[in-house]
Amino acid sequence: MTLANTKLYAQRRAALAQRIGVGSIAIIPTAHEQQRNRDSDFLFRHDSYFYYLAGFTEPKAWLVITGDGHSTLFCQPKDREREIWDGLRLGPEEAPQALGVDEAFSSAELDAKLPALLDGRESVWYPFATHKGLETRIDGWLCGLRARVRYGTLAPEQQRDLCGVLDEMRLVKDTHEQDVMRRAAKISAGAHVRAMQRCAGMLRAGLEVREYHLDAELLHEFRQHGSQYPAYGSIVAAGANACVLHYRADAGRVQSGELVLVDAGCELDGYASDITRTFPANGVFTGPQRTLYELVLASQAAAVSATKPGARFTDPHDAVVRVLAQGMLDVGLLDKNKAGSVDDVIEKRAYFQFYMHRTGHWIGMDVHDCGVYTEPSEIGQVSERRDALTGDTIRDRPARILRAGMVLTIEPGIYVRPAEGVPEAFHNIGIRIEDDAIVTATGCELISRDVPVSVAEIEALMRS
Ligand code: GLY
Ligand code: MN
Ligand code: MN
Repeated sequence: MTLANTKLYAQRRAALAQRIGVGSIAIIPTAHEQQRNRDSDFLFRHDSYFYYLAGFTEPKAWLVITGDGHSTLFCQPKDREREIWDGLRLGPEEAPQALGVDEAFSSAELDAKLPALLDGRESVWYPFATHKGLETRIDGWLCGLRARVRYGTLAPEQQRDLCGVLDEMRLVKDTHEQDVMRRAAKISAGAHVRAMQRCAGMLRAGLEVREYHLDAELLHEFRQHGSQYPAYGSIVAAGANACVLHYRADAGRVQSGELVLVDAGCELDGYASDITRTFPANGVFTGPQRTLYELVLASQAAAVSATKPGARFTDPHDAVVRVLAQGMLDVGLLDKNKAGSVDDVIEKRAYFQFYMHRTGHWIGMDVHDCGVYTEPSEIGQVSERRDALTGDTIRDRPARILRAGMVLTIEPGIYVRPAEGVPEAFHNIGIRIEDDAIVTATGCELISRDVPVSVAEIEALMRS
């Protein structure tokens, strides 16, 4: 850990302390270790809130921050035998120097120390409804404090949710975070390139290609470049499988003449990337595949133009829907005689048959990152809009205004399940194109474009 990073986390802790105010105390545990089966655990992944404030990835750790800016870490104690089995531990003796926290104790001392730390505070802040058993644990400490009321202890009178405060802080990414996210996206882009080239190469060599072969290529590239793990379960969907939105890389046969949809991104140093490319297995788009691909790409371009400071989070989605709706009429996915004009298609949500998800989400430490999608300063002001997914009317909760430093995905798609009236040439085609965008002072920066996206570039790449 570099000194610069130690400072960065200290600055975040100070910013949090200022937001909760003197008289408050915040308690932030890292994630639980999760049993997979019998005596095997899932690979441990720290809690994102905890890591944001501590920069520390060991399990069984807690951070306590008081409103006056004092930070205490509880972490696993040094243990010669356990370290032989599980690996080195930082230990509380080294933690202040290594992490920049003011004090550190063994996590075995939590129950003994917390009542005293809570004593005399007005409010206790912790992330609500995120850690199983956390409320019970805090109740226990408060009970311990109250049990000593005749000694003059004072228990906090308020419990407050820390998520909202931290979500707002995490929503706008600082330059360090943006830099890590650029690197994560670059690795993921390389993985997509590798999967595309390998797919065409194997088919050319007459080899059988399965979805898991391409999944293996992605993972190889992620790990080869230092990514700790995929940011989410990779989707590798051959042919009709692409029409299943949450399909996972399975054993489907990748056939020449079909499309492959790959939605995969690595996590690097705590930050996610999230890229989707759809490409022809043999490297050449058929006519109908190309028609729909160009349409999705045009809709993405419209969304990219709509992604800029001052715009609403929903603007890119609205831009996508208008382009897709017009395109669906033009290519015959929707019958003009029945569906009417582009405005009718939008008003009646006829496009929903082929485009049934939102155009993006925040991305950061979590692939679907935290942050409210409603503009906080305008909640309650008179307004009306329609939710893209449900069609419900949302009153007095305008969509979030984009600001420089926010990072979001832009991921339109078209999924054509066979149905009456749908031209057969398009049946079972599923296409999504997804990039990660940092909102800048004037527009947005696409950080995932090291993998080609145009038809000509994809075909050229897969020939090489
Ligand atoms: N890969 C998950 C998503 O695109 O949101
Ligand atoms: Mn996404
Ligand atoms: Mn994705």
